[in-house]
Amino acid sequence: MSNKTIVITGGTTGIGFACADYLVKNGYNVAITGRTRENLDIAVSRLGKNAIGVLSDTSLLDDIDELVLKIKNEFGKIDGLFINAGIFKALNFEETTEALFDETMNINFKGAYFTVQKFLPILKNPSSVVLNTSIVVFKAFADTSVYTASKAALESIAKVLNIELAERGIRLNVVSPGVTQSPIQKKSGMSDEAIDNLLEHFSSTSPIGRIVQPTDIAPIVEFLLSDKSAVLRNEKVIVDGGTTM
Ligand SMILES: NC(=O)c1ccc[n+]([C@@H]2O[C@H](COP(=O)([O-])OP(=O)(O)OC[C@H]3O[C@@H](n4cnc5c(N)ncnc54)[C@H](OP(=O)(O)O)[C@@H]3O)[C@@H](O)[C@H]2O)c1
Repeated sequence: MSNKTIVITGGTTGIGFACADYLVKNGYNVAITGRTRENLDIAVSRLGKNAIGVLSDTSLLDDIDELVLKIKNEFGKIDGLFINAGIFKALNFEETTEALFDETMNINFKGAYFTVQKFLPILKNPSSVVLNTSIVVFKAFADTSVYTASKAALESIAKVLNIELAERGIRLNVVSPGVTQSPIQKKSGMSDEAIDNLLEHFSSTSPIGRIVQPTDIAPIVEFLLSDKSAVLRNEKVIVDGGTTM
């Protein structure tokens, strides 16, 4: 059992929630964030007494400042950060608007970037940061151009920060999920039929014979946050059931 303290951005549903749940069950103290009060309250009540929730929009730098202050007041310094908050809206390149471009980049990249930066003063030496990217970074999917760019940008900073932050004992690694069943599909604007087809395709073509679940990602993230992976730097763990082999 661990007694580490971890902050998870976007921990109210899907992968972030499954990771929070797994960490709490393994002795960690966890703080989750989200934009939606109702989702946050439900998640925190399900996680129990070793979790707190902070309403915080990761695309707003003032919100990140407030988040860091709240976490500092609650825990002092923390052992790790799971940069997980993210959105995906499916749209072809030709129809992609500046608004969608900005929304996606502001949450998935800019918010993620400044969250790591603003947490630096309260990350312990040693500590671990895990970035949640996606298989889209290395495998092309139609209608994902901005999302792909946002995740590629996020993944690209891991190696630079591993050099800059090494002296402070801060290391970064990447978890790269394949298509994982979560609320993100419904939020993406895809029709129910398109979602069913997507999940069916990735179930039937996967060597594991089923779709990846958020609970499949959680032990991998815990490993990357824990001392078990202490010597890993800029490692990317692809959690896709083998679909991109
Ligand atoms: N599911 C997949 O197939 C898949 C594959 C590869 C990578 N990923 C990545 O995994 C991460 C989690 O996605 P998921 O599938 O678990 O989807 P999800 O269930 O929709 O979870 C997204 C989480 O991020 C939060 N969030 C979104 N925008 C936010 C913002 N501006 N500020 C703070 N929190 C915000 C959501 O909270 P609210 O609901 O309160 O906004 C929610 O807790 C994302 O970064 C996604 O890109 C997912």
